[in-house]
Amino acid sequence: MQTPYYLIDKSKLLQNMEKIAHVREKSGAKALLALKCFATWSIFDLMREYMDGTTSSSLNEVRLGHERFGKETHAYSVAYADYEIDEVVSHADKIIFNSIGQLDRFSEKASGIVRGLRLNPQVSSSSFDLADPARPFSRLGEWDVARVEKVMDRISGFMIHNNCENADFDLFDRMLGTIEERFAPLLRKAEWVSLGGGIHFTGEDYPIDRFAERLKRFSGEYGVQVYLEPGEASITKSTTLEVSVLDTLYNGKNLAIVDSSIEAHMLDLLIYRESAKLAPNKGPHRYMVCGKSCLAGDIFGEFDFEHELKVGDRISIQDAAGYTMVKKNWFNGVKMPAIAIRELDGSIRTVREFTYADYEQSLS
Ligand SMILES: Cc1ncc(COP(=O)(O)O)c(C=O)c1O
Repeated sequence: MQTPYYLIDKSKLLQNMEKIAHVREKSGAKALLALKCFATWSIFDLMREYMDGTTSSSLNEVRLGHERFGKETHAYSVAYADYEIDEVVSHADKIIFNSIGQLDRFSEKASGIVRGLRLNPQVSSSSFDLADPARPFSRLGEWDVARVEKVMDRISGFMIHNNCENADFDLFDRMLGTIEERFAPLLRKAEWVSLGGGIHFTGEDYPIDRFAERLKRFSGEYGVQVYLEPGEASITKSTTLEVSVLDTLYNGKNLAIVDSSIEAHMLDLLIYRESAKLAPNKGPHRYMVCGKSCLAGDIFGEFDFEHELKVGDRISIQDAAGYTMVKKNWFNGVKMPAIAIRELDGSIRTVREFTYADYEQSLS
């Protein structure tokens, strides 16, 4: 197959799905795929069997969730515009407003579906200021219990997203304790609570049964249906970006230029200044793997290889699903990676190829 392409491996995805199904079963929580993280709908047929639906951050996402995933569809957005609210409501089972201002503005229009509000407990597990929902002056949700109590007649539940890449169960447990301390009077009046995403409970060694037990206890204490919104946890380690070496150079370091671009095809790594991951990343030959865009810092990272790299060699960049395919862009007009799925029998099926027409039509 011609590189570059994203390769989703169903057998790896299934490992995450089975853990999600286990947590649902043990805890009674429902799990909604966060489309902001992963929205590659060709694989939804499989995910639908293990998850309860989707949650969204915009009109386009809520529509995609409704049309391509089905089941339960939650709508959330930092702010809805007047011209989109009717269509959002038409696609959603629940709508979660980010502020009391948005609730005031649109609660009438959304009165036919379940309505909720985002709460901000002002603590989070984020190590990046950029992604920290509890950062100073955060616009993400309401925190004043007295103000929220006044609108309880119009809402039946809450969404609280304050875990970010959190692989530490004890930290999750402590932060949920803080949420309970701060918001107990509100939680007791709620029928449902979504605890958002950012909990890496499908990772290796995560104490998944303690996690399920904690969710069940929370649900029982307040009499609420708990929801989880796993993005990264749903698709972690399921997908690679397959690239080929186009050129090698030596500039004090060995460089290998590949037919992809971190700026265009794995942008999140660049934003958070993180290296891509390669496996096995072992051997005596160290190379800086670089993208082909004009950006000087278009660098995937430095990795060790068994052999010297030469033109045409294939490299698999690991963990390329979350916040990656949803952010791919046409910078430099670099060829957009195709999307392929490795089926359970090992065969590979291409589900999407992008052409010049897609590039041209992305602008006018
Ligand atoms: C409200 C909400 N739900 C769910 C998620 C998904 O988080 P993750 O992909 O880290 O699980 C996010 C991520 O930003 C979010 O903001």
